[in-house]
Amino acid sequence: MILLSCSSNHCSLSSNVMASAAAPSTILKSSSIFPHLGWGRRRRSCNLPSINRGVSKSTVAYYGLRSPPYKLDALEPYMSQKTLEVHWGAHHRNYVEALNKQLEKNDILYGCTLDELIRLTYNNGNPLPEFNNAAQVWNHDFFWESMQPGGGEMPKLGLLEQIEKDFGSFDNFKDKFIEAALTSFGSGWVWLVLKREKRCLAIVKTSNAINPLVWNDIPIISLDLWEHAYYLDYKNDRAKYVNTYMNHLVSWNAAAARMARAQAFVNLGEPKIPVA
Ligand SMILES: [Fe+2]
Repeated sequence: MILLSCSSNHCSLSSNVMASAAAPSTILKSSSIFPHLGWGRRRRSCNLPSINRGVSKSTVAYYGLRSPPYKLDALEPYMSQKTLEVHWGAHHRNYVEALNKQLEKNDILYGCTLDELIRLTYNNGNPLPEFNNAAQVWNHDFFWESMQPGGGEMPKLGLLEQIEKDFGSFDNFKDKFIEAALTSFGSGWVWLVLKREKRCLAIVKTSNAINPLVWNDIPIISLDLWEHAYYLDYKNDRAKYVNTYMNHLVSWNAAAARMARAQAFVNLGEPKIPVA
């Protein structure tokens, strides 16, 4: 992870070694495979995407595929329905199914929340085989909720004030976020996070499946930089994709709600971040 910026005096530059992502498989387990679900095991219904309706309605697995909080065509024309069908309906689904397949073989990991599973399998920088799929499931859930129809523009009130406090201005934040996305090599993510100890916002970029939970940061927004996120709509033009996300897709409403919750754990003093 590279901590890129927080212009306040609280934050400093740091770096960490990345882990690599594993290729997901696509086998979905049915309830008949888990006849003895016992103490601590998670048994969740998979939410099948609309594109596959009619195939199966009651598949049971350890973790389910959560739907984006909007219809698959709701982000048009900035992110196409086709991209959502492939990115969410295939890639995200594959991470869920691959994770469930791995968990079938590892009793010690039963009973964790997804957050706990990510921290546990990150294993202090020596990731277990389940880490990449677990993190990618969480990353995509978070990413879908980092966007909204009619997104972009500017955050409001307390969140804007906190950004201005930590980055100097909203424009400076925006420039640094975009720069981080464009200088990130290969597949990965860029995040706006709240640093617990330093009590400030910062931009970090992570490689492959790694996310800020492993360093105990609180994610506020994220942008998926894997090519599967933008290739159908923007081909190899990552700059156009990143600028479109910032100008038309990012959900400052979701960011404000996350900041409001984060203040239960991090004392930011004033301003308080209101829920939108
Ligand atoms: Fe993705």
